[in-house]
Amino acid sequence: MNIQNSQSIRWGILGAGRNSGKFASDFPLVPGCELYGIASRQLSKAQQFAQEYRISHSYGSYKELISHPEIDIIYIGTVNHTHYELTRESLLAGKSVLCEKPFTLHAEQTRELIELARSKKLFLLCGIWSRFFPVIRQIAQGLQNGIYGTPLLAQMDFCFKGNNNPQGRLLNPALGGGALADVGIYPLSIAQFLLGEIIDFSASAILSPEKIDLRVIINARHKSGAISALSAAIDTFSSREASISTDNVRILIPCPFWKASSAIIHHYGESVGSSPEKERIETIDQPYPGKGFHFEIAHVNQCLRDGLIESPLLTHNEMLKIDLLLDQIRLKTGIVTP
Ligand SMILES: NC(=O)c1ccc[n+]([C@@H]2O[C@H](COP(=O)([O-])OP(=O)(O)OC[C@H]3O[C@@H](n4cnc5c(N)ncnc54)[C@H](OP(=O)(O)O)[C@@H]3O)[C@@H](O)[C@H]2O)c1
Repeated sequence: MNIQNSQSIRWGILGAGRNSGKFASDFPLVPGCELYGIASRQLSKAQQFAQEYRISHSYGSYKELISHPEIDIIYIGTVNHTHYELTRESLLAGKSVLCEKPFTLHAEQTRELIELARSKKLFLLCGIWSRFFPVIRQIAQGLQNGIYGTPLLAQMDFCFKGNNNPQGRLLNPALGGGALADVGIYPLSIAQFLLGEIIDFSASAILSPEKIDLRVIINARHKSGAISALSAAIDTFSSREASISTDNVRILIPCPFWKASSAIIHHYGESVGSSPEKERIETIDQPYPGKGFHFEIAHVNQCLRDGLIESPLLTHNEMLKIDLLLDQIRLKTGIVTP
């Protein structure tokens, strides 16, 4: 699909949940597009959501929105276990898709959806929104072009205490819950983005009686020669920072690193020893309005206008690599998925 610059891109949202609300609230920050429709399994819920976020059309079933001819792209903001089926139905109906993370719960499904999008020449992206924040892009660029030296070591953690409703999306295995799928995907995908492909890892997890991972730790080895320690939890807290060390700088992305608005870069130059004297501190500050979804929305709009079927910032191949890695971690640690 190639959308003209003069044409407004019409978005539809599936699922009137918490995250869809945050996504919708950032729409006014992005020019050239509109929120055309919201679908919920309950019409009254869709209507209430439409009123709150000024959306012109509400639907009481996902199918109605998916088949609507006026909609160019669908944002899937539903719980994890529905992502595969709803993405598939949307692509079959000729719609481009931005689906929330985790994309699917099995890499084979991810592979199938990528093939489907390619055969139908439709845009498809997993919404790992961290990729689109300017601070993260700037750090990635600095590491890629060598201005920050050679990446050697990273630590990233995303642990928080979620609600303990056993039927809720975090703890219920039927909904695709667990720390890895919910928040572990951030350190994993950001580490892979900044340090390069993960080629080997060890992992351990503490599982709930239903075999949902409450806590998970991954020690990864990257193709670049760097190593990283990545952790995630849904039953305790951590610093929720990211630290990346090279041979001459340490980059600290403070909490919340996955939607960074700043970073501190400690330049050590040629200093050696445990108390380096020549430290120079550089800060990156990129405050943003709203929740931060506008970076992702604007990027997707640009991809559609350029006639792309995948994002150059998160390619299909990388989406697949992330999901293959998640599969392997589940296998190693005994995490069960529906
Ligand atoms: N990018 C981010 O920053 C971010 C942050 C949080 C979450 N997420 C992702 O966003 C997605 C939704 O998370 P959330 O926190 O918004 O979840 P949520 O509020 O608990 O649920 C989202 C919606 O899923 C729909 N749904 C469809 N089938 C369902 C079922 N069988 N049981 C329960 N709900 C069902 C419901 O929509 P209707 O009732 O309207 O049909 C519900 O409102 C997840 O995939 C999560 O990983 C992303």
